[in-house]
Amino acid sequence: MKPPILEMNGIFKSFNGIPVLKDVDFSVKQGEIHALMGGNGAGKSTLMKILTGVYSADRGEVKLDDNVVAIRNYEDARSNGISMIFQEFSLIPTLTVAQNIYLTRESKTSLGLLDDKANEKKAAKLLAELGVDIQPSDLVQDLGVGYWQMTEIAKALSQEAKILIMDEPTSSLTKTETEVLFTFMNKLKAKGYAIIYISHRMDEIFRVCDRITIMRDGRKISTSQISETSMDQVITDIVGVASGKAFEWVERPYDEAGEPAFEVRELTAGDKVRQVSLRIQPGEIVGIAGLMGSGRTELLRAIFGIDRIHSGEIYVRGRRCAIRNPSDAIAAGIALIPEDRRVQGLVLQHSVRDNMILPILAKVRRGPLLDGKKMNELSRELVKRLNIKTDSISKASNLLSGGNQQKIVLAKWLANHPEVLLLDEPTIGVDIGAKTEIVDIIRELAESGKAILVVSSELQELLALSDRVLIMHEGRMGKSMKRQDIESEEGLQYAIQGY
Ligand SMILES: Nc1ncnc2c1ncn2[C@@H]1O[C@H](COP(=O)(O)OP(=O)(O)OP(=O)(O)O)[C@@H](O)[C@H]1O
Ligand SMILES: [Mg+2]
Repeated sequence: MKPPILEMNGIFKSFNGIPVLKDVDFSVKQGEIHALMGGNGAGKSTLMKILTGVYSADRGEVKLDDNVVAIRNYEDARSNGISMIFQEFSLIPTLTVAQNIYLTRESKTSLGLLDDKANEKKAAKLLAELGVDIQPSDLVQDLGVGYWQMTEIAKALSQEAKILIMDEPTSSLTKTETEVLFTFMNKLKAKGYAIIYISHRMDEIFRVCDRITIMRDGRKISTSQISETSMDQVITDIVGVASGKAFEWVERPYDEAGEPAFEVRELTAGDKVRQVSLRIQPGEIVGIAGLMGSGRTELLRAIFGIDRIHSGEIYVRGRRCAIRNPSDAIAAGIALIPEDRRVQGLVLQHSVRDNMILPILAKVRRGPLLDGKKMNELSRELVKRLNIKTDSISKASNLLSGGNQQKIVLAKWLANHPEVLLLDEPTIGVDIGAKTEIVDIIRELAESGKAILVVSSELQELLALSDRVLIMHEGRMGKSMKRQDIESEEGLQYAIQGY
């Protein structure tokens, strides 16, 4: 057995007197992919921020190759071979791959000018070694997001990184990009690098990781070999109790014959959506399946007035609505929960409460004043219902964990009781426990007669939710299938692929 190259022992950290990490032990070996899992707010990102010098621990030590090291900032982490792989944010899109990799450390010509040729040569060698199929002279902005991450990784490795940290790297990747990334990770592993991999996607963890550490409420619960544990065991460790609740579709009666609650006729919009028609009955949940790029997200964006509508009609409860922008859509009773919620759905500096109340200001107005008490009551209720982990409703949203920020956006729109709810990947980044809660809340909303349209690439989730599944292909609406006629995930997959 290889000795660990990294050990974190007894890490304790609190913010404003509230402990977030409680004596956590964590170790990583050379050449392993080590999964770090746990519910939203369990402390995963904070532990990694201590490892990279963003925060300093109140207690505990970090050892590399058996020597205690002090990591006071990101520079310290990097010089110790620890690198965080950020998603796209840290690259400069208008520069080439080579320029990004060697940014601030470029080779210079004898005149002190940047020597692009020399940098490109070095980058080409590095990329070839890593088996990454991109050209050093390519502009980063011309590459798919998946390759941005590989450029990031190449950059880290060029700085002698030995331990790579990836915090939910696949949440913005397509299925194909994810596959490319996994192949790449396996190559890195074979070369002896260690990878710490944070994700809420169970199937990914079981495919690519060697060991798994699970955290709950700031404590380490377990570390095991993937080959010696099971999904059930992992879920139990994450949630804390054996989860009896199944992710299953339940047939609910709804008015199938009456007037539709929502209808789209021959909608052509943006540069993707072509002549799409669909109807949703009151109380019905309709799922949209399709390959990446089939136009699902674009359809929701068009209905919500973000992408320009060229032709077609939209009806809410039989009333035709002219939608030119999101305000028109909101006024018509339509809400969109976007895919990239942290960016699109939140004012990060604002408090949890203010973010939740934003779309329902009218409801908490008392004469010219806002009813503070009512605002507090409403937001506390939502925090409780969605199990949002925050010590106070006045905490700034950017201080919450990633998954809990997602929940705020959900809460915000649920509080508004929209007639028509459009959901794009509703449980991305959300932990297992909250997933089932969110599914329940969506069902409850449907039961109160709302129309619900869900896009999800997790087929299991789509099947758990939908009363009917529509398949989109290249911007057009294809087959419509009743849920009871879909026998299995494979059946749906087949319908999507074999369209
Ligand atoms: N700077 C901060 N100030 C106050 N509280 C913080 C700060 N950073 C993190 N926290 C709190 O620490 C807890 C752990 O957060 P962390 O981001 O580590 O969770 P996580 O396990 O990464 O969750 P997720 O899966 O949702 O990303 C949360 O309750 C969060 O609100
Ligand atoms: Mg996190």
